[in-house]
Order: sequence, then C-alpha cells, then structure tokens
Amino acid sequence: MQLKFDWLIVLENLRRGIMVTDVNLEPPSGPRILYVNRAWTKMTGYGRDEIANKTPRILQGKHTDRTIVSGLKQKLAGREVFHGQTWNYRKSGEPFVMNWYSYAIYGERGKPIYYVAEQEDVTEIESLRMKQRLLINPQDEKAVAFFAVLKDWKAARKGA
Ligand SMILES: Cc1cc2nc3c(=O)[nH]c(=O)nc-3n(C[C@H](O)[C@H](O)[C@H](O)COP(=O)(O)O)c2cc1C
Repeated sequence: MQLKFDWLIVLENLRRGIMVTDVNLEPPSGPRILYVNRAWTKMTGYGRDEIANKTPRILQGKHTDRTIVSGLKQKLAGREVFHGQTWNYRKSGEPFVMNWYSYAIYGERGKPIYYVAEQEDVTEIESLRMKQRLLINPQDEKAVAFFAVLKDWKAARKGA
C-alpha cells in the first residue's frame, strides 16, 4: 500500500469539517484550535487566521446545550469517544445544529497528543425531523423550540 501521498490535500477536501485541538481542556485558553479544514471554514464562516489559538467555544451561544459540551469533556477525560449535537453559531451569528464526534489521537507512548472532531451541519435534516414531529403533535415542545431558534435569528436579521 502506498502511504506516501499528500495527506493535507485529502484533509482539505473531506466532506465533513475537521478540527484538531491540543489536549488541554481547561478554560479559558484550552482547548486551543490547531487546525481546521476547508469544509469547517465553509460551515462556520470563520477564516483560519481568525480562529488560530482560539477555542471551539467561539461556536457556542445562547442555545448551546451545556450538558452536551460538558459531556464531551467527561468523555475525553475518560478516553472515550464523544458523539453529540447542539446549537452552534456561525461567524454571522446564524444558529445551526452541529453534530460531531470527538476523540483523542494517541502518540507512541499511549498518551493523547491531539483531540480531533469530525463535524457536520445537520440543520436541514433536523428541520425535516422536527417538521414531522409537528405533524404528529403541533404542540411538540422540542420541535416548537427548534423552530423558535431559527425564527428568532431571521427576525433579528431583518431588524438589523
Ligand atoms: C476537538 C474538540 C472539538 C470541539 N468542537 C466543539 C463544537 O463543534 N461545538 C461546541 O459547542 N463545542 C465543541 N467543543 C467543546 C468545547 O471546547 C467545550 O466547551 C469544552 O471542551 C467543554 O468544556 P467547558 O465546560 O470548559 O466549556 C470541542 C472540543 C474539542 C476538544
């Protein structure tokens, strides 16, 4: 098998957003973003220079579920794989549903050397799922809250 090829060009062209951080999870400076691929910059609207040395918390906001993000911390500390989704925000302020896996990359001595995340904007598919829930029950609390987040953003944008 040929292992000598351009890894970066592959990473840059993956369909999912990829983020690599250091292994310090402690706020305010950790985890520090070391790399994001092109799909990530497209999804979030942030340029690479803007996020270098920042933390993934820049994606969080009013409707980000704190239990989800603290769950990530616990999983990574316990050497487990995290998978979850919550509201995140693009640079423009637009909310979107981030669905992501996060786990450690281990070095030769078995110590974590990087945390990575495979990230995807699943707002569209979630909208369809929530619409279906509303068809079954127009008062479905989760679905009503979901569309309220998107409606608030649209209203705020119009008002601006
Ligand atoms: C590799 C990696 C990727 C992350 N990606 C996201 C993300 O896409 N969205 C998000 O809200 N938080 C993300 N986080 C989580 C935040 O960094 C998170 O807030 C933090 O690790 C939990 O600690 P805190 O309670 O100090 O915020 C990510 C963390 C790591 C290590």
